[in-house]
Amino acid sequence: MDEKKKFSQGENEKTLTTRQGHPVKNNQNTRTVGNRGPATLENYEFIEKISHFDRERIPERVVHARGAGAHGYFETYGVAGDEPVEKYTRAKVFSGKGKKTPVFVRFSTVIGGAGSPETARDPRGFAVKFYTEDGNWDLVGNNLKVFFIRDAIKFPDLIHSLKPDPITNVQDSERAFDFWSNTPEALHMITFVFSPWGIPANYRQMQGSGVNTYRWVNEKNESFLVKYHWEPVQGIKNLTQEEADKIQSMSSNHATQDLYQAIEDGEYPEWELYVQIMTDEEHPELDFDPLDDTKLWPKDQFPFLKVGKMVLNKNPENYHNEVEQSAFGTGVLVDGMDFSDDKMLQGRTFSYSDTQRYRVGANYLQLPINKPNKHVGTNQEGGQMAYHNDKGPNKHVNYEPSNMNGLEEVNRDHDYYQPHVEGKLVRESIERKNDFKQAGETYRAFEDWEKEDLINNLVAGLLPCRKEIQDKMIDLFTKCDEEYGRRVKEGLAMGAKNMMPKSGGSPLGSTESTDAIENAKK
Ligand code: HEM
Repeated sequence: MDEKKKFSQGENEKTLTTRQGHPVKNNQNTRTVGNRGPATLENYEFIEKISHFDRERIPERVVHARGAGAHGYFETYGVAGDEPVEKYTRAKVFSGKGKKTPVFVRFSTVIGGAGSPETARDPRGFAVKFYTEDGNWDLVGNNLKVFFIRDAIKFPDLIHSLKPDPITNVQDSERAFDFWSNTPEALHMITFVFSPWGIPANYRQMQGSGVNTYRWVNEKNESFLVKYHWEPVQGIKNLTQEEADKIQSMSSNHATQDLYQAIEDGEYPEWELYVQIMTDEEHPELDFDPLDDTKLWPKDQFPFLKVGKMVLNKNPENYHNEVEQSAFGTGVLVDGMDFSDDKMLQGRTFSYSDTQRYRVGANYLQLPINKPNKHVGTNQEGGQMAYHNDKGPNKHVNYEPSNMNGLEEVNRDHDYYQPHVEGKLVRESIERKNDFKQAGETYRAFEDWEKEDLINNLVAGLLPCRKEIQDKMIDLFTKCDEEYGRRVKEGLAMGAKNMMPKSGGSPLGSTESTDAIENAKK
């Protein structure tokens, strides 16, 4: 159909119409029998307006519901550190120097609903959609470089423990610590989340990380394990709980506002993208499993190699269309990239497109924000809100193979990376768990004020918990670092004297309980 705008007589760009294109002659008064009488059912304009309004919301994301987005581009450096990037991957999005690929980014918090404050102690989502010449690539990451669990089957339990209680509908720290006290692999992430690193000051001044391990594949079909890291050119800024509380008393949108305003003012935020590379092996020499997302890959052994930079320079034109309906997933890779056997990555890869078919609809990939910037040819049919016909030259043919000018596969099966896999099907955890060592190292690497804030926040979160949970957590912190455990224990003993009534308050720390500790110290 001709997309050009057509105006009826007397209309112009400002003319208000219904979705059927009928001009609206009176948008102030419902049609009624007399000016005080009842409304009538054939009142099409009114019914269309209200019934569309009634359907304005789509289900919010089950996690990461609160977010902000922006458009921009990714520019290649053509290298991975000192080496040509082609040594490791044939993905065209990285090849050449100075090549620009459009991107859309959505930042988010994780646990709170769509209107929740952006000062929450919570990881921040950092999801990037690259509209590459080979189709879309999504890098769905967080600001922190590790995660709470290493097996996707535990994700619903983790999230339930952090979301509100199913009866009171109130978040309760006892539920979160109850789960964590039985989940030692969470200790490294907890150490980050309860420190100032758990409240980035805004979206522009935070890092990003793919967290999970992916594979890169080069022209020779050699594969490498890879982790991705975004470093903000603006620098990193985190908040103490007290600073966050002050901001929250004035605004629940400060990070969204900050991002929008910076872009409006032409202060375009930038991040450089780094990768860490490992040969694609089990690496028995390491005291952790490279596919375990609760671990950092030590920087001295696996240096950060710069591959490019991203600039965000355009705000969305419509929040719902672009930010709310955007759909990112870990399965969205291009040639030159592949999955590793990281159990979290594999579970995530099912979850994203599954939820998006429910949240946005079966045809979510036809929406402008999600569709690739290149030719799409499928034999998919129908589903709610289908409008794009992406058949081949003969539109009658919606199957393959065919002799009648339908779509054809490209017959490049040898392009697929073909790892050799064999083994017994089991339900077993990985061997090299090493749950506490890196958590202790992270604790010791913090500056004094970060340690202080971490202990205060943990004590505040643990104070309303029953003793059994407190004791288990103290034991786990002690296994990470003797001082770490002792300080939490001492903080709890001091705080207990001045303990506030048990409530389902902020699960992840609040200055109220920190004040209780301070008072107890006096
Ligand atoms: C969003 C599942 C772990 C980062 C989501 C959504 C689901 C989900 C269902 C909502 C998607 C949507 O409605 O469009 C899972 C599962 C996980 C997992 C099952 C573990 C097995 C992680 C990890 C990270 C992460 C480890 C960080 C690397 C994100 C981000 C979003 C998100 C950034 C928001 C994307 C956006 O802005 O639309 N996740 N997730 N998730 N997840 Fe995960």
